[in-house]
Amino acid sequence: MTKKRIVVLTGAGVSAESGISTFRDSGGLWEKYDIMEVATHEAWVRNQDLVMEFYNQRRKQLYEVEPNAAHHALVKLEEKYDVHIITQNVDDLHERAGSKKVMHLHGELKKVRSSIDENLVYDLDGWELKKGDKCEKGSQLRPHIVWFGEPVPMIPEAAQLSSTADIYMIIGTSLNVYPAAGLVGYTPPGCPVYLIDPAEVPVSHIPGVKVIREKAGKGTAELVEKLLKEA
Ligand code: OAD
Repeated sequence: MTKKRIVVLTGAGVSAESGISTFRDSGGLWEKYDIMEVATHEAWVRNQDLVMEFYNQRRKQLYEVEPNAAHHALVKLEEKYDVHIITQNVDDLHERAGSKKVMHLHGELKKVRSSIDENLVYDLDGWELKKGDKCEKGSQLRPHIVWFGEPVPMIPEAAQLSSTADIYMIIGTSLNVYPAAGLVGYTPPGCPVYLIDPAEVPVSHIPGVKVIREKAGKGTAELVEKLLKEA
C-alpha cells in the first residue's frame, strides 16, 4: 500500500528547543540586529564584514547544538508516512535527526555560494567564511542564504509539493514571511492542516486549521503518535 504523504512546513520555532534563537520572538534575532543591516543584498554590498560575521556566528552556534524532540518525532513519522519537510530554517537539524526529504526554502548555513553565479554552491569547511574566500570564477563567496528582497528559487517546487499533501503540518513559524507563509494555500481542498506553535499565529487564511498551542517538542511528539496510530 502506498503511504499517505505528509508535508511539513517548519520555521525557527522547531529549532528553538535546541537553543537556536527565533527571529521575531522577544529576545529574537531581529531584536538584536537590524534585518536591513545583515539580511539583504544591499547590506552585503555596504558592509560585507558585518554580514559575514553575523552568519559566521550563526554557523558557529550550529556546531554546538543538537536536534530536539520535534526533529526526532518527524523522523519517526517516516515509519508510516511519506514525509516531506519544507523548512524556512537554514540550520541542518532536520537532516542531522535523520529526516530523508528536506527542502530548504531560505538557504543553508553550512553552504556558501559565488556572489556572481548563484549556481556555484559549496560546502563550507568549518564555521568561518572569510574575506578573500573565492569561488572558481574568482568572486568573493557569500552565505548561501535567501536574503530579503531576493527571489525564493525553491517556491515553485514547494508549492507543487504542498499541492500533493494528504496531511499538512506547520510547526514553529510566525507565518510573517511570504511566499513561505502562503504555501499552505496550495494544499488540496479538504486536506487536514495542523499548526503547532505556543503563540497565537495568524491563521485566518487557513480554513479548518487545527491549532495546537504547544512548544514544538511536545506538540510534534504528540501529534506524530496520533498520526502513527491512525495510519
Ligand atoms: P519567527 O521568529 O518569525 O517565528 C518563530 C515562531 O516560532 C513564532 O511563531 C514563535 O511563537 C514560535 N516558537 C517559539 N518557540 C517555539 C517552540 N519552542 N516551539 C514551537 N514554536 C516556537 O521565525 P520564522 O517564522 O521561521 O528568513 O521566520 C521566517 C523567516 O524570517 C526566516 O526563515 C528568516 C526570517 O527572517 C531569512 O532569514 C531569509
